[in-house]
Amino acid sequence: MAVLLWASSLFPKLASSSSIYTHSSSTHLSRLLLSPSSFFPQRRSWRVLHMAASTLPRANLGLTNPSTLPPIEITFSAKETDFSEWKGDILAVGVSQNDMSKDEKGSFENATLRILDSKLGGLLAEASKEEDFTGKIGQATFLRLPGLPFRRLGLVGLGQSTSSSSSAVSAYRGFGEALATAAKTAQAVDAAVLLASYDGLSEEAKLRAASSILSGTVLGVYEDNRFRSEWKNPSLKSVDIIGFGTGPDVENKLKSAVDVCFGVIFGRELVNAPANVLTPIALADEASNIASMFSDVMTATILDADQCKELKMGSYLGVAAASANPPRFIHLCYRPPNGSVKVKLAIVGKGLTFDSGGYNIKTGPGCSIELMKFDMGGSAATLGAARAIGQIKPPGVEVHFIVAACENMISGTGMRPGDIVTASNGKTIEVNNTDAEGRLTLADALVYACNQGVEKVVDLATLTGACIIALGSSVAGVFTPSDDLAAEIFSSAEKTGEKFWRLPLEESYWETMKSGVADMVNTGGRQGGSITAALFLKQFVDEKVQWLHIDMAGPVWNEKKRAATGFGVSTLVEWVLKNSS
Ligand code: BES
Ligand code: MN
Ligand code: ZN
Repeated sequence: MAVLLWASSLFPKLASSSSIYTHSSSTHLSRLLLSPSSFFPQRRSWRVLHMAASTLPRANLGLTNPSTLPPIEITFSAKETDFSEWKGDILAVGVSQNDMSKDEKGSFENATLRILDSKLGGLLAEASKEEDFTGKIGQATFLRLPGLPFRRLGLVGLGQSTSSSSSAVSAYRGFGEALATAAKTAQAVDAAVLLASYDGLSEEAKLRAASSILSGTVLGVYEDNRFRSEWKNPSLKSVDIIGFGTGPDVENKLKSAVDVCFGVIFGRELVNAPANVLTPIALADEASNIASMFSDVMTATILDADQCKELKMGSYLGVAAASANPPRFIHLCYRPPNGSVKVKLAIVGKGLTFDSGGYNIKTGPGCSIELMKFDMGGSAATLGAARAIGQIKPPGVEVHFIVAACENMISGTGMRPGDIVTASNGKTIEVNNTDAEGRLTLADALVYACNQGVEKVVDLATLTGACIIALGSSVAGVFTPSDDLAAEIFSSAEKTGEKFWRLPLEESYWETMKSGVADMVNTGGRQGGSITAALFLKQFVDEKVQWLHIDMAGPVWNEKKRAATGFGVSTLVEWVLKNSS
């Protein structure tokens, strides 16, 4: 049975408009941007013009108007057909190093490769030898072939293991990405994927392999072209998944994998959007939009500065104080369709739409100030997960998605180094560094999360440069007093292939966080900077609540691609599903 998945059918509210899925986001942003620029030319006198300009939403700085991308339309279907009869543009075969072994006569021992090779009169053995294709990870060769039912045949290396470990997940993901790249080069419309061998793969491992390949393909096909004036639309429209099993279980699994991809893509787009476009208000609009897309299961509460003041969120409001873009506190709540709830969770994301450092401004080479639009990566993971959860609708679990969104800027109304702020749990903080702002916003967000009556809270934040020094750019730091919650996150990560490493919450380092006048300062010394940041957050978590902090300063951004990764979305969704029943 074929499952057609295209974005507009997923989001019926948007189905009639031209803006679909990615672009629920763009809908909002473009509305925000278009209205001022459309009334602007009607202003006559300089004075009026000046007034108009000063009341323009800040988002209009630079007049950037992100395009609405066409929907990603990918049909996938799980089949058991004979691969050698498959008709289409690209047949891609995943090949392990084992599968490449040959007998004394130099022919493949693997049955699938032997069939293909005989159809090609020995060309496959020849080409793989010439190109030194041995099935290693990262190797891929795509051959243009005349006289076969498919235009191109690809061999993609899967390396040694085809087990269900996290390294296998990234091998299969890489397979999907290689197919997406080849499809772009060849302008391919349809493709099929299979493995040279399924030996030793349990039904569950096959499902996971198929989902990882499909995820790699969808995420590889997608390009964020909203901020370009010219781009090519993706050509690939259908993927047949051969030999991994068929039936409703397989199709549901694959459909969830695509739902998660849409969450990841959404997260990437939020991070890629520059701070002149993605203001705290724009981020809150995106969150409201998720709630209206999934109004059967999701509600949104958005608080403005006055409402946050009533809740005594002085720590968060201190950070927001310098910005001309007002803050928005975002709270989405997911409740399962048939009501019964066994466990309540909260996900809290750092949502600094821009971090200049404040009066402790980021200066000097390597400070990455020009990348600080990514300082809302934690909130992007949070909202990306909310989107996928709204789509998947897991039973038995209630999830609160919380973001204290604001911008860390400089102005006469801004927080000074040395100011003392009071958080909503009554604790006072001497701000000895305005650039340690993320923890100040998270303090009030964590207090709010614990007040929702949840059992477990996970927070994600691009919190410290020190975490990048410790773990590099692909591994996130994990801090938690709870071994159980750590185990939940690590087993989820094992399934998604995202990389985490636990670091200690060394209580003796709290010494460096003591203030002469307030309950604490917001930064300790340079040593163990990620640990002292985590210890700071701990001051705002209810002791009865299990809590885990993820420092994703490194993995939020792909330096090679100069774009967001969507880090965190897939592991969060997996964690929620693990807690669902
Ligand atoms: N957003 C930064 C952390 C960051 C830095 C993320 C570089 C990604 C790349 C955070 O708000 C920050 O500025 N942290 C300071 C803390 C310091 C003042 C104790 C840092 O890491 O330098
Ligand atoms: Mn900072
Ligand atoms: Zn920051």
